[in-house]
Amino acid sequence: MKTLILKPDEIDQAAEIIRNGGIVAMPTETVYGLAANALDGKAVAQIFKAKGRPMDNPLIVHVSDIAQAKTLVRSFPKEAEILAEKFWPGPLTIILPKADIIPDEVSAGLDTVAVRFPSDPVARKLISLSCPLAAPSANLSGSPSPTSAKHVIDDMDGRIDAIIDGGECKVGVESTVITLAGEKPRLLRPGGITAEQLREVIGEIEIDDAVVNPLKDGEKAASPGMKYKHYAPKANVILLRGTSEAYIAYVNSHNDDKTAALCYDEETGGLNVPYIVLGAENDMEMQAHNLFTALRQADKLGAETVYAHCPNREGVGLAIYNRIIRAAGFTIIQVSV
Ligand code: TXA
Ligand code: MG
Repeated sequence: MKTLILKPDEIDQAAEIIRNGGIVAMPTETVYGLAANALDGKAVAQIFKAKGRPMDNPLIVHVSDIAQAKTLVRSFPKEAEILAEKFWPGPLTIILPKADIIPDEVSAGLDTVAVRFPSDPVARKLISLSCPLAAPSANLSGSPSPTSAKHVIDDMDGRIDAIIDGGECKVGVESTVITLAGEKPRLLRPGGITAEQLREVIGEIEIDDAVVNPLKDGEKAASPGMKYKHYAPKANVILLRGTSEAYIAYVNSHNDDKTAALCYDEETGGLNVPYIVLGAENDMEMQAHNLFTALRQADKLGAETVYAHCPNREGVGLAIYNRIIRAAGFTIIQVSV
């Protein structure tokens, strides 16, 4: 299949492809999404095929206003109203009991559906011109999420109908996912909207254990996506926890010419291996913005082992930690001088 590369002003063509049951990669403020008509199971099935995504992993449905979100669910509780009012449009996904119009391909057989109203103007326009859009991140399953059209082309050229090139994604990590379908609000995936921000508006929320820990044998994932190895470059990623001084010393003494460092700005001077910079140590927004490009770059450097400095888990740091620890297959080494 030939993949069309479209500019945002060619969005009419993209909307037509969607209306005809095709699949299109679109920019959002978080990462690029691979979109199809959410109400057409056959169209949605092509997303799974193009990504190589396991069929038991449900998709997020993207809407262009709150009223449209309400057509996809059986109930929209008070907490949903509050969260939507405060954080939509934006990088927050809310899981609610699904309405019957949601096909099984979208919900992967669950009784719930994940809904998000993105803020990116191109995504919003595409939804307005077509319909609610089911869209996972537009990467091959298992590899880092795409934050530029180039990343999508690298993974998806020839596998999908079109890509809208809307430049670089602002946030850089996927949306925060919260479920309101259980007894208490529960954070399933941290993202650009932090746990602290959610608590400020709806009070106590639970944090799912899978956010920072591997699933135990036989444990069922609240969010099926959390059970798969994720975000992984080909290189072997190892997280090092400790001070910058200890991190630098460890990396330098384990340099075997196939080693690279994924580090903070402040650490580059001391390292004697090739490095990829995430951002300044205290600038978590910038680190989130750069994370997936950095993981893709690790492969371009030809590194076999990437030593990443373990991020601080406060605020947006929790989202970075959640991704990087999966990229590392949960391997952490405590380092000290
Ligand atoms: O920012 C984002 O959320 C991006 C952009 C494109 O919107 N999308 C995205 O989709 O990250 P995806 O499919 O890569 O991740 C969705 C996550 C998966 O871990 C999936 O298992 C979970 O959300 N999920 C979706 N529907 C669910 C449901 N009904 N119950 C529990 N988890 C669900
Ligand atoms: Mg994904």
